[in-house]
Amino acid sequence: MDAFVIRGGRKLSGRLTINGSKNASLPLMAAALMTHQPVTLRGVPRLADIANMRRLLAELGCSDSETTDADGRSILTLRTADDSNSHARYDIVRTMRASICVLGPLLARRGHARVSMPGGCSIGDRPVDLHLRGMEALGADITLESGDIIARAPATGRLRGARIFLGGPFGPTVLGTSNVMCAASLADGVTIIESAACEPEVVDVANLLNAMGARIRGAGTPRIVIEGVKELHGADHEVIPDRIEAGTYMMAAAITNGRLVLDNCPIDCLLAAVDRLEHMGVHIKVLGDTAATIANGSVKDRMHATVEVSRDRTLRPVQVTTQPHPGFPTDLQAQLMALLCVAQGNSVVTETIYTQRFLHVAELSRMGAQLFRQGSTVVVSGVPELVGAPVMASDLRASASLVLAGLAAKGTTTVLRVYHLDRGYEKMEVSLKALGADIERVDDRELPGLPLATAGAASDAA
Ligand code: EPU
Repeated sequence: MDAFVIRGGRKLSGRLTINGSKNASLPLMAAALMTHQPVTLRGVPRLADIANMRRLLAELGCSDSETTDADGRSILTLRTADDSNSHARYDIVRTMRASICVLGPLLARRGHARVSMPGGCSIGDRPVDLHLRGMEALGADITLESGDIIARAPATGRLRGARIFLGGPFGPTVLGTSNVMCAASLADGVTIIESAACEPEVVDVANLLNAMGARIRGAGTPRIVIEGVKELHGADHEVIPDRIEAGTYMMAAAITNGRLVLDNCPIDCLLAAVDRLEHMGVHIKVLGDTAATIANGSVKDRMHATVEVSRDRTLRPVQVTTQPHPGFPTDLQAQLMALLCVAQGNSVVTETIYTQRFLHVAELSRMGAQLFRQGSTVVVSGVPELVGAPVMASDLRASASLVLAGLAAKGTTTVLRVYHLDRGYEKMEVSLKALGADIERVDDRELPGLPLATAGAASDAA
């Protein structure tokens, strides 16, 4: 298995372009199951999760072809030609929970679907009850057989519009909202989703569906109204940039006391992260912003901004609570915690979306961090310096947090099991190296004196 060896202490500097969003691309790709015409997605990131989704879609009769644009970004054209297999098998679903987002498209278009029930996950319990509740409200019959969800549309073959409440104990569901939105797009009548997730990835899925002929209003607000249509057609769509990748690199600049310029940065959907970082003494400047562009600039501009990140000499502590969008994203909690480890004073981090998402705490402690966890809250007492150590990545964002800590730490940090990281960050070590980091990818069997990290690959996080 691959590991990263990082010799810390180098300031990052330079320029980086943010890739297309992983968490938008996955449901966008699944939407291609809803038409036989080609759906072209521009800026799909080259990640392990995307490869898994391509494999799953191919099994479901949706093949793809990949080309590259002038900037080297991937353009994926998906075309569904064969509707005969609607079974998302355990083999693939267990490697990627986001496979559940084929449920709505399959059920709506084919009238039936069989999707393996996603199991446990390293970041905590992740039920799919809200997805199923949504499909049932649209008239689907749902049963469970041999660990598979079997969903069937009513005898007419078509789902029917309904009013659906999608709020759960930890807030609305992001993929559940996209799933129900897809299913309702082809239903008979009007669907109103109440307590819908407001995440930008949901808006992106609605934008693609509308470009395919759907009639969706209100995406990005807690109430989404969908007028069902009989058919969808092909479309050409640009994937939004990855807000979590952008936030991670902002924190990488800050933790190394460096200066980075990020192109294609979706600053418009990072407001809570920017707020916390600025309180800490990190400066995030949108380049080219003038009073006039701030007043007149379109949201589109602020989804593809160029920002410069630098910081004060000392970082201040902050309190942060993860929340559904537009609150502070759970997917940046681990990375922010790494940064707080080197702030001057006590910070408080509370996780409300995945209350067990703290696998990075023990590993950061191995690097000298002073962390005290009680339930879903961690008190971080800043230390002057982290120290390098061998650490184990356990899920995607925890891995990113350990890489950030390694970049700042004194000495050498070895991050084992970076396959988790490859699920969400495109060649992170190559980007970091180009920005001045001393980091290399190695095979962990080449590492002297480390326990073998190969046993028992943990389940996915995203
Ligand atoms: N939940 C339920 N019932 C459901 C669905 C969710 O109780 O049927 C709970 C979850 O257990 C959690 C909360 O509701 O406590 C929110 O879960 P949500 O359904 O919104 O998560 P998701 O859609 O499965 C996406 C991202 C995650 C991200 C969450 C929250 C993708 C592929 N994944 O997951 O991303 O953390 O939204 O923002 O879009 C990551 O990229 O590292 C990652 C884990």
